[in-house]
Amino acid sequence: MCGIIGISSNKPVSANIINSLKKLEYRGYDSAGIATLSDGTINEVKSKGRVDNLENNFDLKNLRGNIGIGHVRWATHGIPNSLNAHPHSSHNVSVVHNGIIENSTILKKHLINKGHDFKSQTDTEVIVHLITENLKTSELEEAITKTLKQLDGSFALGIVFRDIPDLIVGARRGSPLAVGYGPNENYLGSDSYALKSMTNKITYLDDGEFCVVKKDQVLFFNENGKKINKKILKLSSNESNYDKGDFKHFMAKEIEEQPTTIKTGIKEYVDNVNKDINIFNFPWKNEDIKSITLIGCGTAYHSCLMAKYWFEELTNLDVSIDIASEFRYRKNRFKKDSLYVFVSQSGETADTFAALDLCNKNNMKTCAIVNVIESSIARDSNFVLPIHCGPEIGVASTKAFLGQILVLYILALKLGSLRNEIEIKDYQEKIKDLKDLPGLIEKTLQHDNDIQAISSTFNEAKGSMFLGRGYSYPIALEGALKLKELSYIHAEGYPAGEMKHGPLALIEEGMPVVVLAPRDSYYKKTISNMQEVIARGAKVLLITNKSKDNVVSENIWETIEVENTNDDLLPFLLTIPLQKLAYYSALKKGYDIDKPRNLAKSVTVE
Ligand code: AGP
Repeated sequence: MCGIIGISSNKPVSANIINSLKKLEYRGYDSAGIATLSDGTINEVKSKGRVDNLENNFDLKNLRGNIGIGHVRWATHGIPNSLNAHPHSSHNVSVVHNGIIENSTILKKHLINKGHDFKSQTDTEVIVHLITENLKTSELEEAITKTLKQLDGSFALGIVFRDIPDLIVGARRGSPLAVGYGPNENYLGSDSYALKSMTNKITYLDDGEFCVVKKDQVLFFNENGKKINKKILKLSSNESNYDKGDFKHFMAKEIEEQPTTIKTGIKEYVDNVNKDINIFNFPWKNEDIKSITLIGCGTAYHSCLMAKYWFEELTNLDVSIDIASEFRYRKNRFKKDSLYVFVSQSGETADTFAALDLCNKNNMKTCAIVNVIESSIARDSNFVLPIHCGPEIGVASTKAFLGQILVLYILALKLGSLRNEIEIKDYQEKIKDLKDLPGLIEKTLQHDNDIQAISSTFNEAKGSMFLGRGYSYPIALEGALKLKELSYIHAEGYPAGEMKHGPLALIEEGMPVVVLAPRDSYYKKTISNMQEVIARGAKVLLITNKSKDNVVSENIWETIEVENTNDDLLPFLLTIPLQKLAYYSALKKGYDIDKPRNLAKSVTVE
């Protein structure tokens, strides 16, 4: 991951670099640093931890220089401390890097033999010394071309030079990088989000390319150092959405926004007048698609798993799901008549992008379901279905999860109808039910005080389990992921029917277990599994939907009843209490909810 910013201007840049770094913290927050150029000097400042620390530790207002680079780090090589923080500099060259240099050990040995001194434990420092070395014998563009060819692995780079003080070099292989254009200044950034407050005119670098950014000119080069022309794109920008408003955390805001984001998603895709779904310009014919493969990571993978149940129910397509980091290295049998769907909030996740790239190279049909429509995954897919959630800032994905499963559900319904695999009456009934979903989410969000009270028990426990069957199983996985990433409490998501095959041994007196048992076709079976864990001492939080019938079971610790809707849509409602449980549990522990330890929002390393 890591975030990169570079500004070349006719005025001092440190304040704008700091502002951009704050926006980039979703990419990493282990350390932060800046290097500016002034009076023949590289002014380098860096600190462990957040950008706030950097501001507190240094007098940045007086950091001179009209040109500079900045970085927020998510540690890969070397512990997160100020020594390993970027930029890394020699007497002449200063570098910020996102990615991993896989041959750094060999390169380092070679450079040490040539007399270069290394200060950090990072892989990045080899880039600094390689460029310094190559500049001894070559002009700038040639030295950069030579250096990039010597590197194995992935990178986005920002580089400044003491002896060439009017430019920044940017380079990309594997990790995203964008150039932005402003009045009397130009920018380099990890992505358009970092640049949006300064410009809406952007050029994305493609793999292998590098650029030279001056305050009044930007030049682009291919991997052989040959000048190329690139298009300038205009972005839509809506800065106001990035504000926390009256909420304590972005996560709290994003949970509460879900009725609105779901309403927006429905508006984008559902034609309520004709009771139909609009997916315009879908590039493939029914007969071209016989199977579907859904790929993602983390929460996005859970969306894929959720969608598998819907696709199997609503279509006759063969459905496979895959974790991107597994898919990309397996021996895949690519099928011409398969549709490959890539699910990602950020659209920048390195593993998902690599899986997409692999499919593209094999000429497969690729479709992206993303939140960030300018992202690499969106740009490289044959077809894009945006989830229209607006920016999601909290590291824990909430509204994007509901947005992803909404679009996947809509796609399953549409394909089912186009292929005549779902009856028209059912199709229209299900579309009608969708209309009520935002209101039902709104009502379910009113469960608040009860969840706050329940969260204390989870905080006291050694571990917890989340159980569900059928449609509720992916939601159990998602609930467990939310609790572990925010509260650092061990949480396992399991299919309820699997407990007796091993995990039941974990249950002991007082262990909190969340059982998702809506009154769907799995209800009775799940209730039986619930009784098995209660009998072994578990403290069960049952999450079900409202019904006139009481739940037939004794000794349930707590029950939360979500609203009623058709079985397909219950997963949307079951998710809400689980998001809140994780939120309140972390809040009580005083943890950093929007930036949990060791994580980052956009995972751009593999
Ligand atoms: C979810 O709460 C996570 N922080 C994480 O699992 C995330 O969903 C995953 O990294 C994938 O991100 P993407 O959707 O941006 O590809």
